[in-house]
Amino acid sequence: MAMLIVSSVVLFLFTAFCCPSNINAAYNVISFGAKPDGQTDSTQAFLRAWTSACNSVQAATIYVPRGRFLLKAVVFRGPCKNQINVQIDGTLIAPLDYRAMGNSGNWILFIKVNRVRVTGGTLDAKGAGFWACRASGNNCPVGARSITFNWANDIVVSGLTSINSQLSHIVINSCNNVLVRNVKIIAPDLSPNTDGIHVQSSTGVTISSSNIKTGDDCISIGPGTRNLWMERIQCGPGHGVSIGSLAREFNEDGVQNVTLTNSVFTGSDNGVRIKSWARPSTSFVRNIVYRNLVMKNVENPLIIDQNYCHNNINCPGQSSGVKISQVTYKNIQGTSATPVAVIFDCSPSNPCRGIRMQDIKLTYLNKPAQASCTHIGGTTTGVIVPESCL
Ligand SMILES: *[C@@H]1O[C@H](CO)[C@@H](O)[C@H](O)[C@H]1NC(C)=O
Repeated sequence: MAMLIVSSVVLFLFTAFCCPSNINAAYNVISFGAKPDGQTDSTQAFLRAWTSACNSVQAATIYVPRGRFLLKAVVFRGPCKNQINVQIDGTLIAPLDYRAMGNSGNWILFIKVNRVRVTGGTLDAKGAGFWACRASGNNCPVGARSITFNWANDIVVSGLTSINSQLSHIVINSCNNVLVRNVKIIAPDLSPNTDGIHVQSSTGVTISSSNIKTGDDCISIGPGTRNLWMERIQCGPGHGVSIGSLAREFNEDGVQNVTLTNSVFTGSDNGVRIKSWARPSTSFVRNIVYRNLVMKNVENPLIIDQNYCHNNINCPGQSSGVKISQVTYKNIQGTSATPVAVIFDCSPSNPCRGIRMQDIKLTYLNKPAQASCTHIGGTTTGVIVPESCL
């Protein structure tokens, strides 16, 4: 027994304290020429560190120590020989002049990587100049998402902070098995198109314990998303957790098996939203669960909007082809910032089906809020405030 205890203590000490130099011994960007001075362009140094780590037969760690590292648009391409940990203690900053990013569309882009883990770090994209350019109506570049994973598998992003992205902060596109946890996203309420986390064409994404304050959707869920799990999300300001906009294209994949649980919305424009253009489409939304949510002064706590038609272009007089079914709202409490807390505005040609509501209590100025339904069918159980319109 004593032997067992001793050996487990030794094992514990070994795993906890062994090889602190492991991190540094691996691929420290400083030894590839990166400068933590916030001024020297470190892009090529980061790329050299990536190439070495990516060619390593053993699992590799890329280490970014404290300090500010100036990075231009950069692509980290896989597949690599083994797994890669990117441990960031410092801050990566984009050039102050948004034009330096050109029309790359992405600032930090991972392509076709497997088993990559990004831990810690701050990304400061300095998006304000780009937002101002757009607001002034000038000719602006397309803008850049801060960190994107395309065609990647088995990814973990943990403890990352992202500030003031030009467009979306974190994008998961065409990926399998991704965990995003303990991330913090910060951009002003009025910054345009700064979605917090965007997921699309991806299966098995989990987003947990994250705090998102931004100018567009806290989390946006695009076509082809399957098996998405979100828990312990704090959202607001922002436009809420949104599925859509769908029916952007006629031939479009749907969204299925999405769960959001144990989350809080504070002062956001929406709570949970499903949104589609009012035009034909092959798309669908099914098997969605919204559970254990708190709304604090949210403008549209529960909303389905199938009549979206931005600037009335390419859709007047049409109705949405997106088929919405099996959506559950369970144990959702709190306050609405507007009199109508529940808006279910479904498609006349494809009414929403199988909507379930259980234990909902949403008030407006200390009185029951109202609900509005069109083209929808479903069932309720438990206490429902505002009175159900299903
Ligand atoms: C739904 O997604 C969860 C992960 O969020 C997964 O564990 C479960 O297997 C999926 N269900 C189906 C029927 O695919």
